[in-house]
Amino acid sequence: MYLWLKAIHVIFMVTWFAGLFYLPRLFIYHAMDENKQSFELFKVMEKRLFGIMTIGAALTVLFGTAVLMMNWAYFMSTLWFPVKFLFVLALFGYHYWCYRIMLEFRQERNQRSHVWYRWFNEAPALALIVIVIMVIVRPF
Ligand code: HEM
Repeated sequence: MYLWLKAIHVIFMVTWFAGLFYLPRLFIYHAMDENKQSFELFKVMEKRLFGIMTIGAALTVLFGTAVLMMNWAYFMSTLWFPVKFLFVLALFGYHYWCYRIMLEFRQERNQRSHVWYRWFNEAPALALIVIVIMVIVRPF
């Protein structure tokens, strides 16, 4: 049972990350674009992707919490788990920030350049590297 829950947790984590990587990439293209017609297409793509990644995030948390509950005392005795959790919290913040940016694009109020979005796009990769090292290597 434990391993099934963990497998489902990882599957939804990948779904979530597909969105965390691709939505900011859409923001880059959207910020570069000057064609009114493709603007509308970007808005629809962003909305659908945000919906899917939010479902991925919710299910990652649900199954992650289920795994956590099965071995709570052990995870709380480690240091790597709270470090992982800190980066997960940062990802929630990033997810919400993406939501705010999506609304700005929808209302055609974007002021940021595509270069800014290119940097913004790097952040989830950093969180992914740290989290995977925490759960697999468990350095402390
Ligand atoms: C509230 C959010 C989360 C909770 C409560 C949670 C909790 C957990 C727990 C308790 C485990 C089991 C560890 C073990 O038995 O070894 C686990 C495994 C794992 N988690 Fe999460 N997690 C969350 C979010 C994430 C996120 C955002 C990622 C990816 C960036 C992630 C990646 C992984 C991976 C790759 C494993 C498998 C480790 C292994 O192979 O043993 N988790 N998670």
